[in-house]
Amino acid sequence: MPKKKKYPRESFVSMTELVLPNDTNTLNNLMGGRLMHWMDIVSAIAAQKHSNRIVVTASVDNISFRHPIQLGNVVTLKAKVTRAFSSSIEVRIDVDAEDIPSGKKMESNSAYFTFVAVDQSGRPIDVPEVEPETEEEKAMYEGALRRRQLRLILAGRMKPQEANELRSIFDIKETQA
Ligand SMILES: CC(C)(COP(=O)(O)OP(=O)(O)OC[C@H]1O[C@@H](n2cnc3c(N)ncnc32)[C@H](O)[C@@H]1OP(=O)(O)O)[C@@H](O)C(=O)NCCC(=O)NCCS
Repeated sequence: MPKKKKYPRESFVSMTELVLPNDTNTLNNLMGGRLMHWMDIVSAIAAQKHSNRIVVTASVDNISFRHPIQLGNVVTLKAKVTRAFSSSIEVRIDVDAEDIPSGKKMESNSAYFTFVAVDQSGRPIDVPEVEPETEEEKAMYEGALRRRQLRLILAGRMKPQEANELRSIFDIKETQA
């Protein structure tokens, strides 16, 4: 039976937080751990909406913090499902910060989280496919295969020579692999 398909917009989630004193370090900047907690929540909700299942965080790709987010800033986190495989779902999160009194806005960071939909016993379970609509969604959908292979290699779950998508980018010859 063909798998059900869902559009990324059907599971899109936006979450807004105000940076309060308990969220900051001694320089009055938002702590990285607090931001990652918010990123985990917003992306888990998107993955749950896509799968209509309980999901667990399987992995988090590299996260860089480009600019400090300050006490009193308003932080907006947007999560969109990029692609789903058998039981795993990749979600992209974009984070923006705004200083409302000055009207200054900045893009803070972005990251990819991977979730696995599980049944009540914690066993992985099949999820709907993603049907990208916009050009941006299509590009993210295509790139998801390479990102998946890279993270599975780093997690020791895939041999580099099995990663066909990555091999084609780096033009790795059969004899070198
Ligand atoms: C994630 C988890 C369910 C995978 O279970 P598993 O028995 O290894 O399952 P499988 O090997 O069948 O893999 C299931 C899926 O997980 C994906 N996966 C497993 N480890 C992964 C990783 N490190 N990164 C990305 N995806 C991963 C697999 O690629 C597979 O995806 P697919 O079904 O779409 O092909 C299991 O490792 C787990 O429960 N981990 C703990 C999750 C958790 O508690 N998170 C919160 C941390 S505090």
